[in-house]
Amino acid sequence: MKSVLSGMLVLCLLFTAGCQSREQVVSSDTVTTERRSPETDGSAAASGSGYLYQDMEYSYHTDVSQVLEYLVTDMAPEYLLLANKEHPLGEAYRPDRTVTLTCRTYLDKEIALESRTASALYAMLAEMAADGVTDIMVASGYRDYRYQVSLFNQYLNNERASISADAYAYFGQEYIQAAYLSQGKTGLSRQDAELVVRSYAAYPGTSEHQTGLCVDLLTSNTRLSRSFEDTAAFRWLSQNCHRFGFILRYPEGKTEQTGYSYEPWHYRFVGREAATEIMLRGLSLEEFLAAEAAAQQAE
Ligand code: DAL
Ligand code: ZN
Repeated sequence: MKSVLSGMLVLCLLFTAGCQSREQVVSSDTVTTERRSPETDGSAAASGSGYLYQDMEYSYHTDVSQVLEYLVTDMAPEYLLLANKEHPLGEAYRPDRTVTLTCRTYLDKEIALESRTASALYAMLAEMAADGVTDIMVASGYRDYRYQVSLFNQYLNNERASISADAYAYFGQEYIQAAYLSQGKTGLSRQDAELVVRSYAAYPGTSEHQTGLCVDLLTSNTRLSRSFEDTAAFRWLSQNCHRFGFILRYPEGKTEQTGYSYEPWHYRFVGREAATEIMLRGLSLEEFLAAEAAAQQAE
């Protein structure tokens, strides 16, 4: 199964020019996507080893060895690493090898990612661009423990400063009215703030971002919010991300298993075989890993 899938993907990646009406060029050391005709997308164009977006040139590629490198990740335990509330990574965990991303990032921030995950991301962005979807950028990737501490504290401060939509969603209007508004309070207590923040942000040492295996994706007109759903990028990702080894990590309706509310912007690299199974069967990573463990025990 593994070798068949690998073979199919290599073939797809390297030789799909004709069948998907994409002008993909393969040379001995590069996989590039040619400039598309202007009528396909006026705002951006794929070209050479990168693409233009509003006069900025970003590169997404990657030579064949990098592509081949990410193709060997299927069912490798390090790419199926579980990081969640029940499975903390701890303060000291770091991915073995990270690279700084060269694709478009939010505010041109320097963002790192585990190296094979980055190669898979580039391959995915290349194909998105070839399909005319170029308004996409990375908002967050690898975050070390200290970064998560500052992020978590920032969210806590926000919840304490004013009552957010997340607070209403978590506690309900009735509680907010009784415990806060009727007493003239405009922000949450420390304890309540922490409960709300933990529903959408990982406590330091438990964030999947500390694995370096995931990205938050954004477009020019969206925030890390449900608005990302209304983009060509999201629609494309929903159909295709598994082919590059990525899954929608916090799907709608899976909060009980994942511990977090729905995040249409957060994609986790697990390798193509697991990703295909997870996305096509509508599973969470937790459900998939539990099923794998049960199957192994039954053997
Ligand atoms: N928003 C995800 C759960 C994180 O903070 O890692
Ligand atoms: Zn995320």
